Amino acid sequence: MSDKAIENVLHENRTFEPQAAYQQYTNTSLEEYQQKYRQSIEDPEAFWNEVAQNLHWFDPYQQVLNWQEPFAEWFVGGTTNLAYNALERNLSDKADKKAIIWEGEDGEVRTYTYADLTREVKRFANVLLDLGVQTGDRVTLYLPMIPEAAFAMLACARIGAVHSVVFGGFSSGALADRINDAGSKVLITADGGYRRGSAVPLKRNADDAVQNTPSLEKVLVVKRTGQDVQMQEGRDVWLHDALQNVSDENEAVALDAQHPHFILYTSGSTGKPKGVLHALGGYMVNTYLTTKTVFDLHEDDIYWCTADVGWITGHSYIVYGPLLAGATVLMYEGAPNQPDWGRFWKIIQDHKVTILYTAPTAIRSFMRAGSEFPNSYDLSSLRLLGSVGEPINPEAWIWYYTVIGKEKCPVIDTWWQTETGSIMITTLPGAHTMKPGSAGVPMYGVDVAIVDADGQELGADEGGFLVIRKPWPSMLRTVYGDDNRYKTQYWGEIPHVYFAGDGARRDKDGYFTIVGRIDDVLNVSGHRLGTMEVESALVSHPAVAEAAVVGRPDPIKGEGIVAFVTLQTGAEATEQELKAHVAKEIGAIARPDMIRFAEALPKTRSGKIMRRLLRQIASGQEIKGDTSTLEDVSVIEKLQQSVQQS
Ligand code: PRX
Repeated sequence: MSDKAIENVLHENRTFEPQAAYQQYTNTSLEEYQQKYRQSIEDPEAFWNEVAQNLHWFDPYQQVLNWQEPFAEWFVGGTTNLAYNALERNLSDKADKKAIIWEGEDGEVRTYTYADLTREVKRFANVLLDLGVQTGDRVTLYLPMIPEAAFAMLACARIGAVHSVVFGGFSSGALADRINDAGSKVLITADGGYRRGSAVPLKRNADDAVQNTPSLEKVLVVKRTGQDVQMQEGRDVWLHDALQNVSDENEAVALDAQHPHFILYTSGSTGKPKGVLHALGGYMVNTYLTTKTVFDLHEDDIYWCTADVGWITGHSYIVYGPLLAGATVLMYEGAPNQPDWGRFWKIIQDHKVTILYTAPTAIRSFMRAGSEFPNSYDLSSLRLLGSVGEPINPEAWIWYYTVIGKEKCPVIDTWWQTETGSIMITTLPGAHTMKPGSAGVPMYGVDVAIVDADGQELGADEGGFLVIRKPWPSMLRTVYGDDNRYKTQYWGEIPHVYFAGDGARRDKDGYFTIVGRIDDVLNVSGHRLGTMEVESALVSHPAVAEAAVVGRPDPIKGEGIVAFVTLQTGAEATEQELKAHVAKEIGAIARPDMIRFAEALPKTRSGKIMRRLLRQIASGQEIKGDTSTLEDVSVIEKLQQSVQQS
């Protein structure tokens, strides 16, 4: 890792004050945030104790935090249950409130109240017990976005089984690796799932995966599409059959606060997926607090997070946080452009969604498809818009704010990671000024700083490494089965702090702007530039829909800049014009050496641009390393051709 700072080149000066009407409505004022944040940093144990008291503990904890760097224990000695807190705890006043409103890609709608959900989860838990699942056993989920995915997660949490959700778009090989790494005893899957109008053969993929998974004993299958599947006698069980014999009663197990709550695999730089392990008590308290505060939840909200349950966002902000907070959660099964790019806006209109939480990649796709889609629907129910997963380019932010939010909804840009478990940096709606492109300020208890490689804190507007200096309740506890990897990767790069792998800077008002993954930083003539800034400059050109920027070796400059660009539908721009545009926005130093126009960029299945592959393409190398997380492999070939032709 180089110790040179990252330069601050993009000058984005637009700011948006919280709307006066929203300020009247918000649960948290700026003064309250400031006072609570101060308390949470000065006396974290008192702060977190107060938050944790809102939740149910079967046995009280004796100590809030036991910190033996880099290992944390939160709420030591306490016993609790996350499903109990999300279900029974909410029944006294919310039994008839809608917990989940689900819409299938085919338009089917199912609704579950908190009472319904409690019954479904208890019954599902009994099925797992009948299959021989015990507290501490690992269970892998490979499911479409159907309500049963939430039931299964909560059922595992209820009996203390450790779930590992594998995104339904992953291949059988990726699934097998993850089952084996976790040593899972049971796999929960479905016959298939709908995606862009066709049925994905989940059970068939699962059959291929379980050829070589010695730990696996049972496969539980949800019927979703009705497509033909093979059921192996003695191993495979239909959920609807298993549910016939189970009771509606099930008692939540009192689990130790340190109990492993779930494993979630995230891609590592070496290609071997890392099993990020979250522990029960801390994760529960932190997701509960952030959901309530960041989304500024009110009793009548209809909250929609468009992530898949296969990602951390789906864990923390579809299932756990919102249900702990007693919210009404909308869940959608399918693709954003099915049957056309108006689908999201129709869902918002039909269900009167008040909070929308989505990703920059989706926002840029909507921009590209055109404002006429959102403009044909009634979006007046919306009051808050959120973004997560990548830096949101200022242009995409402005589009989201004006076209979707009609300038009345605050936009929150939430920075966090699979590893952090819950939102770490954001602005609070109605409290903070919003700065497009900048995530914002730290959430309660989060001690963020920008440092150099020695851990020295840098000054305002100096780019460096984003680190967290104090443990927080929802931090990952280890890499499953590999404490050493946890230690070296997260706490070993920079002394005594958690290093997240991102480059960022803090401005004079204390706002953090993420400039990209440190591994992607460009080094042009000795200047370290974040990919985000050059990309945002490109996206600020009216013809550009998306951009991905990488370096390729250059004998003179060290690295030259290669940009891959997709254009807005029907728009045109020349390479020269875009190069000149970047030079004007940022300066000659960031002028790309080459711009290639593409139909699509290589993305992971969660929508992140895979710059590692683009770097190899840009420098004419063979594609090496893991491509199993790539969404559409044919994109690579087309890009290779475009570079070779130059
Ligand atoms: O690089 C940051 C980027 O996504 C990474 C974490 O990815 P993952 O573990 O898949 O979790 C995504 C959902 C929480 C971060 O290290 N990232 C995430 N949110 C933002 C972001 N970059 C900039 N701004 C964000 N709001």
